[in-house]
Amino acid sequence: MPKQIYLDYAATTPIDEEVLEAMMPYLKKDFGNPSSLHHFGQITRVAIDQTRKKAARFLNCSESEIVFCGSATEANSLAIFGVVKALQKKIKKPFHIITTKIEHHAVLHPFEELEKQGVEVSFVAPNKIGIVETKEIKKAIKDNTVFISVMYANNEIGTVQPIEEIGKLISQINKNRKQKIYFHTDAVQAVNYLDCDVQKLKVDLLTLSAHKIYGPKGVGALFIKKGTPIEPIIYGGGHEFGLRSGTENVAGIVGLGKAIELVEKHKGDTERIKNLRDKIIEEVLKIPNAKLNGSRENRLPNNVNVSISGVEGESLVIALDQEGIAVSTGSACSSHELKPSHVLLAIGLSPKSTHGSLRITLGRFTTEDEIDYFLKVLPKVVKRLREISPF
Ligand SMILES: Cc1ncc(COP(=O)(O)O)c(C=O)c1O
Repeated sequence: MPKQIYLDYAATTPIDEEVLEAMMPYLKKDFGNPSSLHHFGQITRVAIDQTRKKAARFLNCSESEIVFCGSATEANSLAIFGVVKALQKKIKKPFHIITTKIEHHAVLHPFEELEKQGVEVSFVAPNKIGIVETKEIKKAIKDNTVFISVMYANNEIGTVQPIEEIGKLISQINKNRKQKIYFHTDAVQAVNYLDCDVQKLKVDLLTLSAHKIYGPKGVGALFIKKGTPIEPIIYGGGHEFGLRSGTENVAGIVGLGKAIELVEKHKGDTERIKNLRDKIIEEVLKIPNAKLNGSRENRLPNNVNVSISGVEGESLVIALDQEGIAVSTGSACSSHELKPSHVLLAIGLSPKSTHGSLRITLGRFTTEDEIDYFLKVLPKVVKRLREISPF
């Protein structure tokens, strides 16, 4: 029996050895401040620029369109508050912005905050299988819509949104408009598996996070298409083209660069992960009254999210943890709250059934033996919990 089985890759990924190796010099001897003119500073400046090059190549954009931030949460806030602030200065009339009901809180809460401040916001609902349909976005667009944010892949149910199709729709609409609509996507969960070419996706802004791609925590990046109106949300020494002041997290940024490089190298592993995912889905659905949440086809190759009636998700997570298996209920950020998941509610689950949801997410280091062990343990744990459940 394997000792510790980690099946929570959507919450965070273990750091890749190669990433750690790349970072180490910048935590030790190469400690210079990248803003310093001397030799120490030049070494770290070059290291940051190399990551910028790698990120730009990965996203198919230019280096000057990449801004490093302290997390994807911060990158999302910069995208949303930054663009809205710039547009408020420019337009000087009330305008309308759009997002979806299934965004991560790092997008949802900034939109809710803007709504409180008086900006008109539409929250578009997904369909029953967790996809935000392009036609629903089209319906929500008004004459004064100026900003839309739709996540690329959902962190709870793994559903992949039609970003390229929405991007096409928006650029079509923009052709007949004086005031352009700017399009942002939170691609945090997509980077490992989906094409993030910003030209193909036709997005103006895209967010990514290092710790979801085997890099360090506390590093994010935002692609900002040249010409997009945007104001900083953090003020200071004018780092990152004036958009994100604060001495750069050099080691973290170097780690992000290496992690991006490795995403490209490990693309061939996707099929193996997908096969393991499919094995889990097939076996878990044999448990009586277990149901898959989200689309079977349009979902990330590493995501399984199931509702198992008659058990509490939290009890299941704790019981599995005692067996050496780490999984999650809903999203990591909200799993300490006992509130029903907003994503599961949005796809039509009742508050009661959202509590029996389990998220199993796989990754680079997941093995078939681990999955076999998990599949052996899970039905027994469910049976035991059902016997003592008050439901
Ligand atoms: C879709 C999505 N967006 C944003 C974030 C926040 O990322 P970070 O932890 O880098 O702030 C997460 C993390 O769970 C996520 O899954």
